[in-house]
Amino acid sequence: MARILVNNSGPLNGEVTVSGAKNSVLPLLAATLLTEDNCIIEGVPSLADVHIMKEMLKSFGAEVDDSEDGIVNVKASEILTVEGNPELVQEMRASTVAMGPLLARCGKVVMPMQGGCTIGKRPIDLHLKGFRSLGAKITEEEGRVIIEAGPEGLVGDAIYLDFPSVGATENILMAATLAKGTTIIENAAKEPEIVDLANLLNKMGAKIKSAGTDLIRIEGVERLSGAVHGVIPDRIEAGTFMLAAAITRGKVHVKNAIPGHVRPIISKLKESGVYVEITDEGIYVDGSREELVATDIKTLPYPGFPTDIQSPFMAFLATVQGSSVVRETVFENRFMHVVELNRMGADITTENREAVIPGGKKLHGAKVRATDLRAGAAMILAGLVASETTEISEIYHIERGYEDIVSKFKGLGADLMKVED
Ligand code: EPZ
Repeated sequence: MARILVNNSGPLNGEVTVSGAKNSVLPLLAATLLTEDNCIIEGVPSLADVHIMKEMLKSFGAEVDDSEDGIVNVKASEILTVEGNPELVQEMRASTVAMGPLLARCGKVVMPMQGGCTIGKRPIDLHLKGFRSLGAKITEEEGRVIIEAGPEGLVGDAIYLDFPSVGATENILMAATLAKGTTIIENAAKEPEIVDLANLLNKMGAKIKSAGTDLIRIEGVERLSGAVHGVIPDRIEAGTFMLAAAITRGKVHVKNAIPGHVRPIISKLKESGVYVEITDEGIYVDGSREELVATDIKTLPYPGFPTDIQSPFMAFLATVQGSSVVRETVFENRFMHVVELNRMGADITTENREAVIPGGKKLHGAKVRATDLRAGAAMILAGLVASETTEISEIYHIERGYEDIVSKFKGLGADLMKVED
């Protein structure tokens, strides 16, 4: 199994450019199934999850050409099957975001039911609630969920999301673009990735209003056409590199980041005494100016503090003076990285969805696991300031969501390497 070895690297310095957002490009690629015309998605990061999504599109019958760097050309002129490939679906939960487009385009979709993952059960009840509201019939058999539109196709309706689920909002949004009449999604997710998806869909001819707010209005249209669209930068990657400057007390210019997408991270870093400056090209972070201190974190749906930055931020909090409290309100089991950080001397305690980080620790190297993609990034951050070498296994998690992460850290002066068995 491949591993990443990280040595104490001292303060990181320099600049790093953020890639396209993983959590945007996956629904954008799924949206290309809504039309038989050619779609071009630009700024696509080279990630394992993106590769799986492209294989998923091909499995439905789309032609996918990604010969050029970061530009993916998709033409789903005909859909050969509406059944998701079990291996691909099992490999990547986010493949469920193909349900909405296929249901809208073909009137039916069949998806293998998925188990949970390390951070939680990951149910799709809100996705299915939305499809039912649009008139779809849902049955389950032999571990598959079968969703079929009514006799007159999908019909617009008002849908209230009990939780502002990102995936459910994306799936319902895409399904509603071709439904008859108007759909309203209440308590919708407001993440930048939702806005990015709505912008592509509107370029394709959809009629979507107020994406990015908690009430999205969609007026169904007859058909959608092709479009060209660039992916927004990855706000979670941006936050990860901002934290790399903070935890190593270095100075890093995170370029191609959109400050408006990372406001909670900027605020919390400033509360800890980190210097943060918005520049014309991104965000400049200097962790060297003051003694850094504790701050409390509570993860919430956007625009609250992002759950995906919770574990990297916890690694940082282990190194500052004073005790911090981290509350995880989005996923039910997203503290798997605590055990790994404690192997390095962080001395964190947890109770239910709350963790107490005593802070002021001198971390030491250890053999640790990447328990999910963001926890893997947290292990790299901790390893940068730990004495002795930190050996991170199960790094396939990390490579699902961070493009060229080892070379990007090396470019900032980090001492780390990937080793294959
Ligand atoms: C997206 O997952 C992201 N993934 C996640 O990023 C991110 O952590 C999450 O949104 C929250 O911001 C992608 O975009 C591919 P949710 P998603 O539906 O859509 C519950 C990463 O590291 N829920 O907003 O699956 C669910 O159990 C990944 O890049 C239901 O109960 O997130 C969870 O507790 C990790 N029923 C909460 O809502 C449903 O039908 C948030 O889930 C759907 C969700």
